Amino acid sequence: MPAPDAALTAAPLPFSPSLESSRADEAAIEAGLAETMLSISRTTFEHSGHAMRSVHAKSHGFLRGILSVPDLPPELAQGMFARPGRYPVVIRLSTTPGDVLDDNVSMPRGMALKVVGVSGARLPGSEDDTTQDFVLGNSPSFNTRDAAGFLAQLKPIAATTDRAPGLKKAVSALSRGTERVLEAFGGKSATLVTVAGQRKTHILGDTFYSQAALLYGENYCKVCVAPVSPGLVALNEAKLDLAGKPDGLREAVNRHFSTEGGEWELRVQLATDGAAMPIEDASVAWPEDRSPYRPVARIVVAPQEAWSPARSAAVDDGLAFNPWHGLSAHRPLGSIMRTRRLAYARSTLFRAERNGRRIAEPRSADDLPI
Ligand code: HEM
Repeated sequence: MPAPDAALTAAPLPFSPSLESSRADEAAIEAGLAETMLSISRTTFEHSGHAMRSVHAKSHGFLRGILSVPDLPPELAQGMFARPGRYPVVIRLSTTPGDVLDDNVSMPRGMALKVVGVSGARLPGSEDDTTQDFVLGNSPSFNTRDAAGFLAQLKPIAATTDRAPGLKKAVSALSRGTERVLEAFGGKSATLVTVAGQRKTHILGDTFYSQAALLYGENYCKVCVAPVSPGLVALNEAKLDLAGKPDGLREAVNRHFSTEGGEWELRVQLATDGAAMPIEDASVAWPEDRSPYRPVARIVVAPQEAWSPARSAAVDDGLAFNPWHGLSAHRPLGSIMRTRRLAYARSTLFRAERNGRRIAEPRSADDLPI
């Protein structure tokens, strides 16, 4: 008989409050992040008359689907995954900048997933809701270890909002590590590393990660959403010609869902080693050979019109996805996660006020705007 896979038999590590630690000035950094994020929204609002997300402003598709949780082994049967169930979901696909750029300026991508109707004790600020949001990016780790590092990196990016699409275009054509060339464009290397390096591939082939940690019942984890249906798997790293197609990503998403559906797995990577799988350093991708991402749910999406102006008005303007919308059993952990709370709340409020829109959490499938 083959030896059991050590990675799968390693016991998940219990979460302990001592695994989180914050700097004395974290509140000031949190406020600085929220303010810098808002400065981006204010600039784009001044120029467009429409209030958009401070980051991930451009959407490329909205998908309505069903998430199913099967009967899981005890270490995976936690929080909203404790019991088998079926939940309506809405997904929003985006790219990172706070300004709406030509898709030929290739930027990292995001996926926001809202699961509706989960039950259990709730996070502070989310007590009256029934949603569980997962707000994800298409690489396994974040680009800075903590909020202080992110604030330092964000300031020069915020300063280029709406002003330097040419710079972002030039930079995105280059790959990571070519900082000498990049300096010629007058940017700081951290800025450039952030905006560079996204290959021009189909967004539906990407896997999206929480990058930072969250509680998983008594334990803690990172989360990802990975394509599993053959039609989506075939799009992994599939080249997309975006030249002369400013909205080429949403056109590609629409093309796919006009004839086909898609399926993803939601997977969790349980922490099994405190040193190799830190909470406070979000720039560390936890080693998958030590603890693989394991499926806990499946998302099924039928063919639909993924992006339209009406859907954009409904989801871009009518919904907010936020890692702090959820169950206490999935509390976001670590510096990056803690400081997201204020920034998301402020950005959402700004959008609601400026656009004169109510942004509220859906309570059931009937409340979903698409
Ligand atoms: C301290 C770190 C971070 C801050 C301050 C921050 C801030 C923000 C803000 C202000 C928004 C707009 C919220 C709204 O108006 O509704 C946003 C959206 C978003 N963020 Fe973050 N973020 C951080 C980290 C991350 C990380 C680690 C990821 C990915 C793993 C991520 C992915 C996204 C995505 C995908 C969206 C768009 C959500 C949507 O579609 O509505 N962010 N972020």
